[in-house]
Amino acid sequence: MNPQALTLRHGDEERRAIFAVAEAVELQAPAAFLSEAELAGFSALRFPLKQQGFLLGRLAAKRALGALLAEPDLRRIEIGSGVFGQPLVRHPRAEGIDVTLSHSHGLAVALAYPAESPLGVDLETVSEVAAGTILAELQLSAAEKAWLAARTIDEATACGVLWTAREALGKSMKIGLNCPLGVLSLGQLEPAGAAAWDCRYANFPQSRCLSQAIDGRVLSIALPSETELSAWPQLR
Ligand SMILES: CC(C)(COP(=O)(O)OP(=O)(O)OC[C@H]1O[C@@H](n2cnc3c(N)ncnc32)[C@H](O)[C@@H]1OP(=O)(O)O)[C@@H](O)C(=O)NCCC(=O)NCCS
Repeated sequence: MNPQALTLRHGDEERRAIFAVAEAVELQAPAAFLSEAELAGFSALRFPLKQQGFLLGRLAAKRALGALLAEPDLRRIEIGSGVFGQPLVRHPRAEGIDVTLSHSHGLAVALAYPAESPLGVDLETVSEVAAGTILAELQLSAAEKAWLAARTIDEATACGVLWTAREALGKSMKIGLNCPLGVLSLGQLEPAGAAAWDCRYANFPQSRCLSQAIDGRVLSIALPSETELSAWPQLR
């Protein structure tokens, strides 16, 4: 199941995307999967948490890209950063291919996808401690306030859904969170299973978000509104 092949259906068109995860316990020696330039970037990182996040994010992203590009040697796939921090894929067959990634507390997820169908992924670990701070920063829409008031899940998980939905959209648009967070708020949240939601954005009708709570984490994927995903990505 890792990496997981997905189909993006948009009208009559079908495109292939790959979802992959990486866990801290599987981390190999950096030289086994990083390019020379990535190794130099890694060696400049001072803090162990930053180092782990970098390695996990690169490993998940390269697994997804390796499957999409049919490239078994992950050192030949390079992931640089653009001026907004967005990941940039370098490989002889990577024209028109993008990647989006997220890491949180020892786990990373990534989606490799064709640039025609912009995607953004975000993973957060549910935290009661962080929930209060998050709530104060979100700049909630009326729809989000109503959803929170009627929620069937705990507050920390609900905050995770609202936060990751914003980050996923920001990544799909390559702006990250460099805008007022209320701009990225949700205008509609529909249940799509026991702990999953199909959401619409208040200000970006061209995009929607699929969010799911799994094992103390929340995973959100922003995708074009009219695009259907063949399956929900699996964390394990
Ligand atoms: C996107 C952003 C929020 C990162 O989120 P995070 O929860 O810290 O980290 P995640 O693990 O989920 O995602 C990190 C990855 O997002 C990707 N990313 C960063 N900026 C991005 C952008 N503008 N567009 C798309 N992807 C981006 C990168 O691949 C990054 O991994 P890398 O640095 O190892 O390559 C952050 O980079 C950003 O936009 N910061 C600017 C402002 C900010 O921090 N605001 C906080 C307001 S409270």
